Amino acid sequence: MATAHPKLGLRPFLPEDADVLAEIFRTSIMDLTGEDYSEAQQQAWASAADSVPAFAKKLGNQLTLVASLEGSPAGFASLGPGGKIEMLYIHPAAAGQGVAAMLVDALEKLAGARKAEKLVVDASDTARGFFEKRGYVAQQRNSITVGDEWLATTTLHKPLAAKPEAS
Ligand SMILES: CC(C)(COP(=O)(O)OP(=O)(O)OC[C@H]1O[C@@H](n2cnc3c(N)ncnc32)[C@H](O)[C@@H]1OP(=O)(O)O)[C@@H](O)C(=O)NCCC(=O)NCCS
Repeated sequence: MATAHPKLGLRPFLPEDADVLAEIFRTSIMDLTGEDYSEAQQQAWASAADSVPAFAKKLGNQLTLVASLEGSPAGFASLGPGGKIEMLYIHPAAAGQGVAAMLVDALEKLAGARKAEKLVVDASDTARGFFEKRGYVAQQRNSITVGDEWLATTTLHKPLAAKPEAS
């Protein structure tokens, strides 16, 4: 079971994180998704971080959180408008230690504070089981084009519990 890890930390994204997060993005895709996607699909997907300034701009325009393990960035996740989880990428060396769970816990709380009614994610086939385990329910399968490649994803939703009004 992924338990609270004493060496795990969480903080907002800073512009100077861009290089290391681009590297985590690429390595995560190339090392963790090979059972679900071909190498050509992985390369096309990972190329979204080829321009680090453009990648940093995307992260800066979303609510992006950086997770650290023993003080080093180990993964990141971002929330866009409408409670949509846009990115979730964990460094392979940090996988299986509860880093993604900590990031998504935080995004769910932030989305709730922004009064989102639900969380939405277009999950990779690699991440789908992670989200289903957290109560996300599959709505539809998608085929998205990335460069010359088609990638299958699944849209999942998780309703956020309505909080009782304070009286
Ligand atoms: C999917 C991913 C985010 C999971 O990250 P992680 O840090 O290894 O996950 P955690 O350690 O936080 O896992 C939390 C729980 O989910 C479970 N889990 C993780 N990945 C799972 C999967 N693919 N299927 C089913 N359960 C999964 C873990 O076993 C753990 O369960 P536990 O609490 O009972 O121990 C990571 O593998 C990744 O970055 N993949 C490649 C990039 C990607 O596909 N990103 C998603 C884009 S939408």
